[in-house]
Amino acid sequence: MTNYARHTRRDFLCRTAALGIVGTAGRWIPPARAQQSETATLHAKPGTARLAPADYPETPVWGYDGKVPGPTIRVPQGATVSRRFLNGLPQGSTVHWHGVRLENPMDGVPELTQPVVEPADDFLYDFTVPDTGTYWYHPHERAWEQMARGLYGALVVEEPEPPQVDRDEVLLIDDWRLAQDASIDESFGALGDWSHGGRTGNWITVNGEAGWSLRVGQYERLRLRLVNVANARIFSLAANGLDGWLVALDGQPLGEARPAGPIVLAPGQRADILIDAVAEPGSQAVLYSRERESSFVLATFTVEGTARNERLPAPTALASNPVPPHGSLAEARRATLHMEGGAMGGMREARMGGRMVPMRELAQAGKLWAFNGDVEMSEKPLFAAERGEAWLVRIVNDTAWPHAMHLHGHHFRPVGSDGNAGPLRDTLLVDSEQTVQIGFVADNPGDWLLHCHTLEHSIAGMRTWFRVT
Ligand code: C2O
Ligand code: CU
Repeated sequence: MTNYARHTRRDFLCRTAALGIVGTAGRWIPPARAQQSETATLHAKPGTARLAPADYPETPVWGYDGKVPGPTIRVPQGATVSRRFLNGLPQGSTVHWHGVRLENPMDGVPELTQPVVEPADDFLYDFTVPDTGTYWYHPHERAWEQMARGLYGALVVEEPEPPQVDRDEVLLIDDWRLAQDASIDESFGALGDWSHGGRTGNWITVNGEAGWSLRVGQYERLRLRLVNVANARIFSLAANGLDGWLVALDGQPLGEARPAGPIVLAPGQRADILIDAVAEPGSQAVLYSRERESSFVLATFTVEGTARNERLPAPTALASNPVPPHGSLAEARRATLHMEGGAMGGMREARMGGRMVPMRELAQAGKLWAFNGDVEMSEKPLFAAERGEAWLVRIVNDTAWPHAMHLHGHHFRPVGSDGNAGPLRDTLLVDSEQTVQIGFVADNPGDWLLHCHTLEHSIAGMRTWFRVT
């Protein structure tokens, strides 16, 4: 089944032959624990979601509170987020708060910042959010399976003075691999995915719906918080009948309201846009994704009547967050991350378990990519920073694939060879054969990951860490 590569889903609707019953029997659900306090819970557990059309069965998923997406957490800047995470899954898990510059023990990375939370066990996440913006949460244990089964949710940190909009919507964009009975295809761990572009799917949803839509009035202004929660698919977004501005990337304000053009959104990345429905009443505006040979609609905005007689004035920039300026690049300390491996990459051998191992043997162990010659996280960090130091990390993509590199606990700026710095990000797409530099001040103490957000690449070797003391 597939719902992309075409604007209508009629083709899919026709193929509804012989559906089996998808049972949830046999799924192991631990008893809910007595709540220890008033703290809100976040309960990862099996559930079902209506991903496919009504004549298909619902899809058995894993979701926070059993739902896809999990609950949207909305808090004001500077607030404390407290959630007792309950693991109702049949395997260990954790929660990572993607993009939040939080205290290291709350970062949710097994082995590095906390032990894995075993089935039926729990863990208290409790941290403050220093920055406004669009963030999200997801597991960091077997993420390549758990996120493909539906575990993710949005975390929105509101500005003290938000821009004037009529509506503020989070759009969590996901790419599922579904079988003909609309169940999740169980092809986890397929080395073909791991060595190529990751587990891409055949069914696209926004907020767990294949046909996400909204009724709007002409000239209504919307804030859309776009989040790519897919394991591996890179979306190339564009719109018809909508016109507006890009105001933030990865949660961080841009310093200006930029006329919005097409937006490339790699796994993990976010974009905040302020847009007006400019399509005529009685017509539809759409947000769509362009693939190499076709495009498909992600969200439909049905324009009914007018919200006002003319467009609102252009917005101003969002107020910036207290991210430290990256300081003097000339004095920055430097590290290099050399990425190699994958299909068509020509990697012959790499270090595993303390010795050089040929590619064939690496592949048998599910290791297909290397960072600085290592397929596993080594005991030694990529670099050790003293708190407050400026760092420039050169990332060399010596592979045939793009990689969405995500830095934990900090935001950084891509720095060009001319020394010019781009917008703050926490996840940066590095194209095949491209070299980038990222500059940031290592001001958050702890052990932090730097990894590819294509989840199959991450588990197959593309992760490392750095220490800030
Ligand atoms: Cu969104 Cu290390 O993850
Ligand atoms: Cu990658």
